Amino acid sequence: MKPLSPSEIPKMRAAGRLAARTLEHAGKFVRAGITTDEINKIVHDFTLSHGAVPAPLGYHGFPKSVCTSVNDCICHGVPDATVLKDGDIINVDVTCILDGYYGDTSATYFVGEVSDLAKDITDCAQKAMWKGIEEVRPFAATGDIGFAIEKFVNRRGYYVVREIGGHGIGKVFHDDPFVPSHGKKGRGPKLQPWCCITVEPMINQTSAEFEEIDIPNSSIKYYLTGDRTLSAQFEHTVLITDTGYEIMTLP
Ligand code: MF3
Ligand code: CO
Ligand code: CO
Repeated sequence: MKPLSPSEIPKMRAAGRLAARTLEHAGKFVRAGITTDEINKIVHDFTLSHGAVPAPLGYHGFPKSVCTSVNDCICHGVPDATVLKDGDIINVDVTCILDGYYGDTSATYFVGEVSDLAKDITDCAQKAMWKGIEEVRPFAATGDIGFAIEKFVNRRGYYVVREIGGHGIGKVFHDDPFVPSHGKKGRGPKLQPWCCITVEPMINQTSAEFEEIDIPNSSIKYYLTGDRTLSAQFEHTVLITDTGYEIMTLP
């Protein structure tokens, strides 16, 4: 966690904006009949055509350019021949490297008409992300973010994933601090002005339990809910300013 210099902030903004535009572009293709591999190609090609590199590709051996996490997949879903079908939800998680800086953002999309439950957990995940982001200000604790997220999620009757969460980001993909989706006010590292973090709560339908699954030839794992019920997630990259925050991953 090293503060960005004034000349680095516009570069982070540009990387964040490109990640957001890439996600927005990919989101337009989410519909029944498309494969997650096709979404991967869309993200890969869009990223390269804008002069950037898809950060997931080759990251600790991760084999694809985007993460596509469908239904009971919590995160790090690997694009493959899976065909999306009506009623699925899918988190698309885009990270690009532009001019050496990382922008990381994700959203959960509906495939066709989805259940009321799928709509509700997705709405909860999005609002939980904003509850966390609203805590971001200089010298706030990471626990303030986690506390706000978990309180909101539990009131809605869902569960946060505790072991996986947000992170510092800048000239590296995953930096300290860890940004939890649970916690106590005032606990954990303090946010430093002019650093960037991600806020990316993962929300499970019936419990916080998960199963970790190996990805061949990679040290990255993907995660499924323990009982294969739904999970949803949203993510923004956020700059800590001298007074509050600025979202870097807006299109
Ligand atoms: N984008 C994910 C995050 O939000 C990380 C994906 S790492 C990968 O931190 F290797 F799975 F791509
Ligand atoms: Co992230
Ligand atoms: Co991400």
